[in-house]
Amino acid sequence: MLSEQTIKIVKSTAPILADRGVEITTHFYKTMFEAHPELLNIFNHANQKQGRQQTALANTVYAAATYIDQLEVLLPAVKQIAHKHRSLMVKKEHYPIVGEFLLKAIKEVLGEAATDEIIDAWAEAYGVIAQVFIDIENEMYEEAKNNKWEGFKAFKVVKKQKESSIITSFYLQPADGSTVPAFSPGQYVTVRLSVEGEEYLLNRQYSLSDAPNQSHLRISVKREGENPTTLGKVSNYLHDHIGEGDEIELTAPAGDFVLDEASDKPLYLISGGVGITPMMSMLKRTADHKANRPVTFIHAAKNGEVQAFRTEVEEAVIKLTYSQKYFILENPTAEDRENHRFDAEGYLDSQKLKDIATETDAIFYVCGPVAFMKNTIGNLATIGVKEENIHFEFFGPSINLKEY
Ligand code: HEM
Repeated sequence: MLSEQTIKIVKSTAPILADRGVEITTHFYKTMFEAHPELLNIFNHANQKQGRQQTALANTVYAAATYIDQLEVLLPAVKQIAHKHRSLMVKKEHYPIVGEFLLKAIKEVLGEAATDEIIDAWAEAYGVIAQVFIDIENEMYEEAKNNKWEGFKAFKVVKKQKESSIITSFYLQPADGSTVPAFSPGQYVTVRLSVEGEEYLLNRQYSLSDAPNQSHLRISVKREGENPTTLGKVSNYLHDHIGEGDEIELTAPAGDFVLDEASDKPLYLISGGVGITPMMSMLKRTADHKANRPVTFIHAAKNGEVQAFRTEVEEAVIKLTYSQKYFILENPTAEDRENHRFDAEGYLDSQKLKDIATETDAIFYVCGPVAFMKNTIGNLATIGVKEENIHFEFFGPSINLKEY
């Protein structure tokens, strides 16, 4: 238990630290990686370069500090982060390292303003926050152990299939011949690759894009960026160098953006671009196991060239008794028009959403680029959908904890 005095110090200094947050965490990462370069095998270097991870960690530590005497408020957010940590094999022995360098960075950036009393209070608070993560992650590791998939496991690419000009699917089976475990539609896996010319291992998360309980897992990867800089390194490598017969490593499925299968409420699956991947898993699962549940599948893409899974969506939708599908293309090509490949043109704006989403007492899942998500979530609220019925997932580190 933290003392009243410690709580007071932490709460009153949290805003000061938040102000200098990015400075502190940037310094923290630099010094931590200098002392522990092996951690570069875990962290996403592209996120580091963009400063996204710095913001995510800073926001979380300061939010946690603000709620230090009622950490249960943060539990849903902690669980979501813990899923990501577990899928990346972040272990309890890593926490003291992060703590040590975070405190050193606070001290260095704040200078004399960081008195011993303040540093001691933050050290104590970090210990409490870290323990919350460690306990939750421990349960997740136990579960993974019971499912006989504790760490990274080799999977063989048994089929590679182009889904659009920029998205390619990889069908994966365990290299050791073991069975493919069940997962919840919406979950992702971490893929770890050793790329020639790269000093450290590269990790990325990809949603599972096929229904569970099959003899394979499927990921569908968008090629990011024309010239593979840090940003598109993994996706380009997968597209260009990983083929049928090759092996890649995965950790067990993770994530709490999952289909609520117990509910019979109508389901709206709304995606933009490659955000379609978790929706494919949810759609196919529902089509196979709950064909009477009303499902509306809405997908927005730039044009028919880049749009993936058109036929697969149509095939799944036919299996459902009450279903609608809307393909919205921002800039349809002449070929898209000729082949009637879309139901509406332009953006998924509030008017379109209002026309399509006639049932507001339904469950909505949203996934796609940040701007698409922000607009869609805002528009759903405008048409009267309750916050608790909207589920969403950003690809990449959570930008702001308050958004959860
Ligand atoms: C991701 C917070 C400890 C490694 C994240 C994210 C947050 C976060 C908010 C983004 C989650 C998302 O992507 O949705 C924290 C907090 C910690 C902590 C508050 C301490 C209490 C650690 C430790 C390690 C670690 C000890 C390992 C040394 C990572 C990695 C990611 C991540 C590798 C994935 C993002 C990337 O690779 O850039 N963490 N974390 N974290 N965390 Fe932590």
